[in-house]
This record gives sequence, C-alpha cells and structure tokens, in this order.
Amino acid sequence: SFELSLRPQTLSQYIGQDKVKDNLKVFIQAAKMRQETLDHVLLYGPPGLGKTTLAAVIANEMGVNLRTTSGPAIERPGDLAAILTALEPGDVLFIDEIHRLPRSIEEVLYPAMEDFCLDIVIGNGPSARSVRLDLPPFTLVGATTRAGALSAPLRDRFGVLSRLEYYTEEQLREIVIRTSEIFQTSIDLPASFELARRSRGTPRIANRLLRRVRDFAQVKGNGTITTELAQEALELLQVDRLGLDHIDHKLLKGIIERFKGGPVGLDTISASIGEESHTIEDVYEPYLLQIGFLQRTPRGRIVTHLVYEHFQMEVPEK
Ligand code: ADE
Repeated sequence: SFELSLRPQTLSQYIGQDKVKDNLKVFIQAAKMRQETLDHVLLYGPPGLGKTTLAAVIANEMGVNLRTTSGPAIERPGDLAAILTALEPGDVLFIDEIHRLPRSIEEVLYPAMEDFCLDIVIGNGPSARSVRLDLPPFTLVGATTRAGALSAPLRDRFGVLSRLEYYTEEQLREIVIRTSEIFQTSIDLPASFELARRSRGTPRIANRLLRRVRDFAQVKGNGTITTELAQEALELLQVDRLGLDHIDHKLLKGIIERFKGGPVGLDTISASIGEESHTIEDVYEPYLLQIGFLQRTPRGRIVTHLVYEHFQMEVPEK
C-alpha cells in the first residue's frame, strides 16, 4: 500500500542506524550463504526509531515472510502455539513490546527459540500429558523500549542484540526529503532543516510533523512547504524550537513549579501531571535525558539549568 511504501524495504533504503545496519548486513549475508535461518535478533531503544521497519527489512532481505504480533497480544500459551505452528521455514516472527510477554509464555518461547520445538500440555488432571511438536526453523525479531525489562534467560537467547540510537538532524532531514518525495510534495531547504530540528531525533515524529505541515501547505498555501508555512504550522501544533511538545512542557514545568526542580520520584510526577508513569518513562524521558534536560538520581528526577534557560526562567539558587 501507499502508506507501507513510506517505509524503506531494504537496508540500502534505510537511513541512519549505520552500526546496526552494517552488522545486520553481514549476519544476513552469512546466513544466506550457509542457507541457514538468521539468528534471533533483539532490537531495543526508544519508540519511533524504526524497530518495526527494521524487522520488515530483515524479512525482506532474507526473502521470507514477516509475521507480526506483540507481547500484550499473546495472553495464553495457545496463542503463541497457534502463531508458531503457522510459520513457514525461515520466516521472521516479529514480537513488538516483547518485554510485556507474560512470564508463563516466555517459558514456551525458550525451547521454541533454542530447539525449534514446542512442549504443549494436552488435557488436564491425571490424564494430562505433554506432547512435543517440531516447529519450522524461524527468526524471532523482538523489539522493546527497555532491554532491562526483559528476563535474563530470554535476553540470552537472542544471538544479535542491536540498540537503536536517536537520529542526527542530517539523517532526519534525509528522511523528511525522502518522505516528501513519496508524497510528491515539494519542501524548501530551510523548512526541511526546521522539521528535522524539531523531530526529537525520531523519524516517526519527523514523518508525523511532515504530514501535518503538508496539510497546512495544501490548505493555506499552494502545496509547497515553504519555511514560513512550516514555522506557522509548527507554532500551531505547539511544537517548540527543540521539538518539545505540550506534554514535555507539562512534565518539565511540573517538576519546576511543584517540586522546586526535583529530585522527585516518577510516580509522584505521574500523579501530579496526570500522565501514566510508563508513558513518561518510555516515551518522554529518554529524549529529555539525551539532551541533558533531565537527570536521574537515586532520589528521583531533577531538571537541569538547560531547562530554565530554554524557558527563559531564572535558575534558582541552591
Ligand atoms: N522512514 C522512517 N524511518 C526511516 C528510515 N530510517 N530510513 C528511511 N525512511 C524512513
């Protein structure tokens, strides 16, 4: 589909994550030369950096099918068994949010990953018995925002561990240009820089902003994304100079105004601003930590002087 074609199909079309790509290129080529299935791959890092896209690229490069599911979608061992027994040899099974797999299901996954077999219990009570099913060899690609939340035995069963990093402004600009070409929308040079700068290192955000700015250009302009239109649109979308949005502001200003800049615990911040602590931790904090706006200390989160400067507030005396 058109939307799907937004996503790169091959490693050479995939912009950024050079280290991850260079390694995968070798592992994929080696597996193909030996006519083997690619080893299991764990992709981890903040949301929106292209883990799902990369799973699809891996399947495409290997020339196999991609089957997609997620940790929370697999509730019972039977759910996983149904997916695994439907795989064809060599297929990629992508499990998003793999850290949210129930522990009881992880245990079904271990022999599946290690020996391509499944131990299932049939019946119950005294007549219950265990049956071993052979599975086709497959590649598990797991994705998680936190590798630390995975149990050690599960983590240890991945042969390839790849950490995705935030993208540079130049890489994001390339992605913005690529996407605008797919949209058949022209964008001027400064506007592409502006979008890249405000995308928090994240292609998903870059493409989302591009879609919205393109809407403005279509309705209020002649379809071309000019610098002026982009700036006006970003203002209306409440995305600031650094790409911080309404929720980033609420989080940072909340810590300053209600907790004197911290330290304050995650759950306390969460209750105070009415955002889920998991969302704060997985979605908002990583970028704020990366740009040095937040620090984690044993006593909780603190905002740094950069935040006061960004909001043009006076840095308090300690
Ligand atoms: N679209 C979203 N992420 C991308 C990437 N890393 N490379 C190319 N296009 C993309």
